[in-house]
Amino acid sequence: MAAPIVNLEGKIGLITGIANEKSISTGVAEACAQAGAKLIITYQNEKTRAFIEPVIARLGVTDAFLLDVTKPETMDAVFAEIDARYGKLDFALHSMAFAKRDDLHGRVVDTSADGFALAMDVSTHSFVRLAKKVEPLMIKAGGGSLVTMTYLGSEKVIPNYGVMGLCKAALEAATRYLAAELGEKNIRVNAVSPGPLMTRAASGIAGFDGLMAAAVERSPMHSLVTPEDIGALTAFLVSDAGRLISGGVHFVDAGYNIMG
Ligand SMILES: NC(=O)c1ccc[n+]([C@@H]2O[C@H](COP(=O)([O-])OP(=O)(O)OC[C@H]3O[C@@H](n4cnc5c(N)ncnc54)[C@H](O)[C@@H]3O)[C@@H](O)[C@H]2O)c1
Repeated sequence: MAAPIVNLEGKIGLITGIANEKSISTGVAEACAQAGAKLIITYQNEKTRAFIEPVIARLGVTDAFLLDVTKPETMDAVFAEIDARYGKLDFALHSMAFAKRDDLHGRVVDTSADGFALAMDVSTHSFVRLAKKVEPLMIKAGGGSLVTMTYLGSEKVIPNYGVMGLCKAALEAATRYLAAELGEKNIRVNAVSPGPLMTRAASGIAGFDGLMAAAVERSPMHSLVTPEDIGALTAFLVSDAGRLISGGVHFVDAGYNIMG
């Protein structure tokens, strides 16, 4: 096991969005647990639970709660539990997104109001709702750090990313507005923008292999990123080492985003 890059001893963190071993949030959870954080994790539904058991066991997680962001009562329940058990929260990861296949692969021009609203609700407004829930708990902690996962499709047109590009653009804007609003409470808000990596969500995007091949070919470092790479950056951002970093979109993509 590599030595932890940062120290998260004494910190309590919420990690959402673990679907299985390959999830980005699994890499974040690993890095934060190795750095000494106590983790609370959430999973979308009981079907997912079986796939996350190995992660729960490996990281020694004792608090795993169901969170479906389309069901407000599940979010209320998660935060009631966190408040009752710990009374504070030092950091939180938002790593959830969803859009219907047709709205990813079809033209944005053709997106239905319902498909647009669903994608925005799960992928973007859930971040705002999460911020509202973490705020009082982070105030009790004397401050905190909230991180979300975005993608280059927010600013560049990526084939088959469709409505999700709009969701990520709004997510990055939300990162800035939330950072501005919560900064005086010593709560930092950042977005991490990884290069493409094959996860369950990514497997639903047509031509994703081509995106990964382009990332290797065209990025300055000719490399794909792994959940561990994303975990390292995120653990840094939620640690005291990142204490004055807020409102930014931080790429971990072997430099791909700078290439014309
Ligand atoms: N894989 C990539 O190449 C890549 C690149 C950049 C950003 N991202 C972003 O990273 C984040 C995590 O995705 P991933 O690639 O690890 O895939 P993943 O499939 O492992 O994770 C996506 C998660 O979203 C959760 N989710 C979807 N709808 C939900 C709902 N209604 N309630 C609660 N949870 C819900 C799923 O349960 C799953 O855990 C997403 O925001 C994604 O857009 C992924």
